[in-house]
Amino acid sequence: MINALRGMKDTISPTSEIYLHIIETCTKIAQNYGFSFIETPILEETALFKRSVGESSDIVGKEMYQFIDKGENDVCLRPEGTAGVVRAFIQQKYDKAGGVRRFFYHGPMFRYERPQKGRLRQFHQFGAETFGEANVREDATIILMLCEMFKTLGIGFTLEINSLGCPTCMPPYRTQLVRFLDQTEGLCEDCERRKLTNPIRVLDCKNEHCRSLLSKAPILLDNLCQECSTDFTVLKSILDSFGIAYSINPKLVRGLDYYSKTAFEFVSSEIGAQSAIAGGGRYDRLVEFLEGKPTPGVGFAMGIERLMELVKMPETTRQGYYIGALCDEALERVYRLSIAKRSEAIVHTLYEAKSLKTHLKNADKNYVKFCVCIGEDELLDGTVWIKDLESKEEKRIKLENF
Ligand code: HAM
Repeated sequence: MINALRGMKDTISPTSEIYLHIIETCTKIAQNYGFSFIETPILEETALFKRSVGESSDIVGKEMYQFIDKGENDVCLRPEGTAGVVRAFIQQKYDKAGGVRRFFYHGPMFRYERPQKGRLRQFHQFGAETFGEANVREDATIILMLCEMFKTLGIGFTLEINSLGCPTCMPPYRTQLVRFLDQTEGLCEDCERRKLTNPIRVLDCKNEHCRSLLSKAPILLDNLCQECSTDFTVLKSILDSFGIAYSINPKLVRGLDYYSKTAFEFVSSEIGAQSAIAGGGRYDRLVEFLEGKPTPGVGFAMGIERLMELVKMPETTRQGYYIGALCDEALERVYRLSIAKRSEAIVHTLYEAKSLKTHLKNADKNYVKFCVCIGEDELLDGTVWIKDLESKEEKRIKLENF
């Protein structure tokens, strides 16, 4: 037997209903916030992710599904959605056109990680990106939009925020941090490597010993320039004014290299170690890195499989019809009626004549509101027998009134 690959899974009924519910809920809310749908290819040039997510990140360094295709192109399955959306934005010349544009997307992402609960090699994200809006109110709006999505889905969360500074305040902070790291002995191998490639990522190390060594590390929030500091204060005051609880985590650096200023993560305490349900932030230099006209950007993505563990589905009501034949002669009429009725409602049917009892059982299994049957009597007088499975009322009505 051939099974799905390790770390990859099927989304199949009944859990696929939860998947659809998440996509539909988030789509509706994103549209209310002025985001329009974008779909980008799953396969992209490897260079796109090297230049955006960053070569020093684990995602690009260790986790890419990368290969040479038949045309000798170095390509990979996308590990995240932002880079492709930025590429599309530049390719469409929206950077040159100016103005503000907002996009949302959903689909599969691929990271060759060690699979565990909540961590897959193929997983799905719902994400959104705003281009051309430098105002920190957009960062706040995106966080408020996520809060609304989680509230509508019945998901509890905690929110962590941080500022990663900008080209004015980050470089001097980085120098200060590297000086501290140079004087610190006993860091793990990963941290020693990151010290050279992307020292900020050292702050994110999960190793307990490194964490204790880093407790005295300089903090970027204490070293922000005036502009970043003001933006962070405005962000906090907006969240306060909307009653959104958050904690400030000065060590929140995110696993992708493209962030500046606002960084945030939504965490759930109910799904185990892989607790991040959404993350995002500002990336004002990414469009420029990918050779577009400098354009500010901010966005987020959430992990749909992790949300599926948490979603409270709205109560379902009985919907649609089940139409069954009680004798072989009625099969044709039932078939035609089912096709016709599907232009207005959900219709289940069977291509075989069965007893009334069996049809009623099937109708209940499909959780429909009405069970409709046609037998010899109904064929003769041009009627259908119909039972409302909620009120239990049953009657025969003329075919043309059905
Ligand atoms: P990320 O934090 O790498 O950000 O991923 C976002 C979310 O995807 C995570 O919070 C998590 O819920 C889910 N996720 C990540 N890896 C896995 C995995 N292996 N298995 C299951 N779920 C996973 C980004 O991808 C950025 N592109 C977000 C962004 C958009 N920033 C700005 N705009």
